Order: sequence, then structure tokens, then C-alpha cells
Amino acid sequence: MDKLVVHGGSVIKGVINISGSKNASLPILAASILTGEDCIIRRVPDVSDTNYMIQILSALGADVERSSGTVRICCADIADEAPYELVRRMRASICVMGPLLARKGRAVVSLPGGCVIGDRPVDLHLKGLQALGAKVEFEGGNITLTAPDGLRGAEMDLRGENGPTVLGTDNVMMAATLADGITVIESAAAEPEVLDLANFLNAMGAKISGAGTRRIVIEGVKELHGVEHTVIPDRIEAGTFMAAAALAGEGVTLNRVNRDHLKAITAAIIKSGHKVEFNEAGNSCFIERGETLQGVDLTTAPFPGYPTDMQAQMTALLVTTPGISVIRDTIFPQRFMHCAELKRMGADIRVDNGNAIVSGVRRLSAAPVMASDLRASAALVLAALNASGSTEISRLYHIDRGYEHIDEKLLMLGAKVERVQV
Ligand code: EPZ
Repeated sequence: MDKLVVHGGSVIKGVINISGSKNASLPILAASILTGEDCIIRRVPDVSDTNYMIQILSALGADVERSSGTVRICCADIADEAPYELVRRMRASICVMGPLLARKGRAVVSLPGGCVIGDRPVDLHLKGLQALGAKVEFEGGNITLTAPDGLRGAEMDLRGENGPTVLGTDNVMMAATLADGITVIESAAAEPEVLDLANFLNAMGAKISGAGTRRIVIEGVKELHGVEHTVIPDRIEAGTFMAAAALAGEGVTLNRVNRDHLKAITAAIIKSGHKVEFNEAGNSCFIERGETLQGVDLTTAPFPGYPTDMQAQMTALLVTTPGISVIRDTIFPQRFMHCAELKRMGADIRVDNGNAIVSGVRRLSAAPVMASDLRASAALVLAALNASGSTEISRLYHIDRGYEHIDEKLLMLGAKVERVQV
């Protein structure tokens, strides 16, 4: 099990490229189940979550090749039961459910277990698939969906208590591409990753309109075909490096970004006093630490609001920003595990009922800390960058789920980090 040692206090500067989006790649890889032809997907980040998805597809019978960020998948002959041993490792494996059901008329996927960022139900996924005519049964920890006579288009509202569902919207959208008739998803998730999936499906021959808005309309087609697609940049990786540059940077340029996906993150970083400038094309940005800093109030919200997946990293920036910051997570109100570890490094944070109240301190000091989930571990890396002393972050496998070569990218920017095998 690897750990990361971050020697605090070094300044970061220079240029790096942002990788393809993990959260766009996962459903897009799963969507290749919808055709028996070759799908070629570029800029798939080399992270363990995409590896798990590829393993699941291989176990289902897909022929998969991966090299230099390009994945070729052919699902000519595919089974309908996703193996528990692989599915249990990653909650996002649930997004094979919609495409399997549409292609095979049956899908068996194990019910995702608990998750450290909060209770993560799949009721909305099932509500949508049931509206399309699927029969749902639970047995032995598995969900079995059947639609022996095919799926039928339907109108549905997928809004949950905490807003829309990203993977739920993806699952229903994928299933509806091959349904008979028209499907309308109201209160759909409008995240850029949902739009990227819709673009992938449309290139396969699907007829989807409205993706990227709260109302998606899908006209079912008889079959889909092979496609080539390049995944969008990872806005959360970009945001994480923007926060790192604000914390410890003397001028960092991030290439291969999309300005339109980063508006809320950019606004929060500028509001706390740092400089963020995009080039005219909006695909490269320059971040410089500011001189007059201030705390900010942040509330996570579905896109285009401030993303929950950037909540922990922004908290890491704000713990050493003068003044009071109040951070509220409305999507995953329990997603504050990083705060206890940040407090071990000297942060002044009070977590109360879905809010973190942060009083900025001058500097953190190194301490052995433990990563609890993907974004929490990124927050610890950021905090360690300008803490005094060397911080050891254990359970690094969490960060490897979603950040491609994070230690190498930080080294390229001049940070002093070491990956140590223990
Ligand atoms: C996606 O998860 C992302 N994962 C998450 O990123 C991200 O935090 C989340 O969307 C919110 O933006 C991937 O894209 C692979 P949701 P997803 O369904 O789709 C509730 C990361 O760090 N809900 O949009 O599973 C749910 O409890 C990961 O990269 C229901 O009530 O999340 C939450 O409060 C972690 N019923 C809210 O909706 C359901 O059936 C939004 O969750 C489904 C969800």
C-alpha cells in the first residue's frame, strides 16, 4: 500500500496538462455495451476507477485494448451479469445497469454498499428504469432488472431530495436510446459529463436532445453503431490544481481545460483573493497566488453550481486563508471526513450539520494523516503543500482512483513529493 510524503513549503510553478475526465469516461466506457461494434475512446485517464470499469467490461465478455489513453472496446458478445467481486470495488459500476438492460433485456448488478461520503441510494436509477418498463427484483445483494419484451419510452421526473442524479440520468439515458418511443427525463442532471455521454451516444446513432439542461428527450432507435470519441477534460482535476496553485503557486498554467466547466470553481478562487486568467480559447488557464486573501462562503450545488467534488480541496485552501469561511455541502451533507484530518494538521474547523465553519490559521504543520476518499485525499495533499514539515498521507489508493499520475504532475511543478511503498 503506497503512501505519499509531501515536504511542505516548496513553491510550485510551471505548466501541466489536465487529463481526460474520470467521471465522463466511466459511463462512456459502459455505454460501449450498447453496440456490438468497435468503440474507440480517447483521453481515458489511467486511474484505478477506469481500470475497474475495463475489468468489468472484460469480465462481461468485451474485447478491450488500452494504450496511451486510448481504449478500444468491442462488446460483440456480452453477458448480462456483472461480477460482484469487481462491481463491489467501485460504486460507479452501477452505470453498466442501463446499457445491459437495453442490450440484453436483463441486467444483474450487485447493490452498491455504503460509501464514506454518505448514503448513496440508487432508487432514482431504478425509478427511471422501471418507468421504461423494467421489472426490478432484489435477491442476495443483487438487483435484477428484466425487460424481456424490450423497453418503452416514458416521461419521468428524476429529482431526488438532494437534487438531480448524475449516474441515474446516465443510466436512464443509455437505456432509453434503444427503447421503443420517446423518453423525457425531467429534472435531469446537467453536468458536463452527462453532456459528453450524450454526445458519445448521439455519435453512435442515438437521438438525444437537451443534454446539459434539466430536460432531456430521447427518441429510441433500433440499434447503435461503433464510434470514436475524445473524452472532455477533467474539471475536478483542473480545479484541484487551481487550488494547489492558489495555495502554493508562483504562476501555474493548466492546459487542456474547459473554461465553461470551471466557472463556479474559478469564481470561488478569485473571490478568496487569487488570480485566475484564461486564454481567449478558454482551454488554458494561469493561476497565481494572491496577496490580499479572504474567507468565502461556499455552498455546493448541481452544475453549474459549485461542485461537491471540489468541496474538500477548497476547504484545504481556505484553512490557511485569513477570515471565516462557511462551507455547506447540500449534495453529500456528510462529506466532511477530511476536516478531522485537516484539524490534526492544525486547521481550525467546526463541522456542524452539513456545514464546515473554518477560521483561517497562518500555517498548518505536518502530521501523519489518512486519506478517507478520493477528494478528501486530494485535500490532504493540498494542505500538506504549504504545511511546515513533511506530511505522510497513507491509504494513497484513494487518490489513485481518480487522479492520473498526481505525484508526477506535482513533481513537474516543483513540489517535493515522494511516493513510498510500505
Ligand atoms: C456522481 O456520482 C459522481 N460520480 C460523483 O463523483 C459526484 O460526487 C456526484 O455525481 C455528484 O456530483 C461519477 O460521476 C462516477 P448523484 P453519482 O446520483 O451520480 C442522491 C468523485 O469524487 N441520490 O448525482 O452517484 C445522492 O445520495 C465522485 O469523483 C438519490 O437520492 O451521484 C446525492 O445526495 C464521488 N437517489 C445526490 O442524489 C439515487 O438513486 C446526487 O448524487 C441517486 C442519488
